[in-house]
Amino acid sequence: MDENTAQTQDPTSGRAADPDLSALQVAVIGAGNMGGPVAATMLEAGVRPAHLRIANTSPDSSRRAAEELGATAADSREQALAQADVVVLGVKPYQILDLAAAVREQIPAGAVVISLAAGITLAQLEQALPEGAAVVRAMPNTPISVGEGAVGLMRGSAVTDAQHQQVHALFSRAGVAVDITEDQVHAFIGAAGSLAGFGFAIIEAMTEEAVRQGLTRDLADALVQQTMRGAATMLRESGVHPAVAKAGVCSPGGTTAEGYAALEREGVRAGLAAAMAAAARRSRELTAD
Ligand SMILES: NC(=O)c1ccc[n+]([C@@H]2O[C@H](COP(=O)([O-])OP(=O)(O)OC[C@H]3O[C@@H](n4cnc5c(N)ncnc54)[C@H](OP(=O)(O)O)[C@@H]3O)[C@@H](O)[C@H]2O)c1
Repeated sequence: MDENTAQTQDPTSGRAADPDLSALQVAVIGAGNMGGPVAATMLEAGVRPAHLRIANTSPDSSRRAAEELGATAADSREQALAQADVVVLGVKPYQILDLAAAVREQIPAGAVVISLAAGITLAQLEQALPEGAAVVRAMPNTPISVGEGAVGLMRGSAVTDAQHQQVHALFSRAGVAVDITEDQVHAFIGAAGSLAGFGFAIIEAMTEEAVRQGLTRDLADALVQQTMRGAATMLRESGVHPAVAKAGVCSPGGTTAEGYAALEREGVRAGLAAAMAAAARRSRELTAD
């Protein structure tokens, strides 16, 4: 990293501006289903394609991933890691501690290591890496691939304020990036990680019913997706509580009030709560394993 990546001051607000990422060197070890979108969001945030090196299990696989993402393929993990300021470990949870042990001597001193692995704690990662390593756990969901996702960031004890700000800047195009504690990650999985999957299932169910009610599939897709998106955007932009917004669209004796009563009768609220609680519970179990 050179001086260009240092924190700069936003002259218009007086607050710290996002760091300039254009000189940052990033190594992504494991650019698969999740490492790929994470690499893409970092490129969106300002990392230069020539500075984002990918190393998968083979040079061919690295080349394919790099071409797809518009990044650079490394010939080896060692080459990807040389001079990296940020190292993303995007392999499966069962592989990550072995990988960390295998590359610990190749990670440049002062680099931040970002782990995507679910269920592997900061303490486990810090133990596998050299003493004093700056480690961040990032828990992203798949909508980060369209800039509308959520990322929970857990900060290791050796991460400096400047590195912390840099990691936030790297995820600034993902949607929202929030700091969470390791205790909160299980609730985060229910409220963001697995919730993306629940969202797909809910949208699919509503679309099928719209088709059953006589709409063409194209119309059903467009109406359901746009309305769900619009409802979320309205809440976010207005700051209005969802219960107040709901009351606002339930006219006395009207269609929405009637439909809402059916929703409650069918236990949809309880079902959603149970799904989120089950995801959080499973996350706790997988961390304990
Ligand atoms: N998928 C999700 O929705 C999601 C959500 C949150 C977090 N995560 C986390 O993301 C991590 C990756 O999951 P995934 O679904 O993206 O897995 P994946 O699609 O299988 O990707 C894993 C990548 O790691 C590479 N790899 C494996 N061993 C390697 C090694 N020794 N050296 C270099 N590269 C290696 C693989 O390369 P090849 O392509 O050459 O095999 C592959 O590109 C997991 O730890 C998971 O907990 C995933």
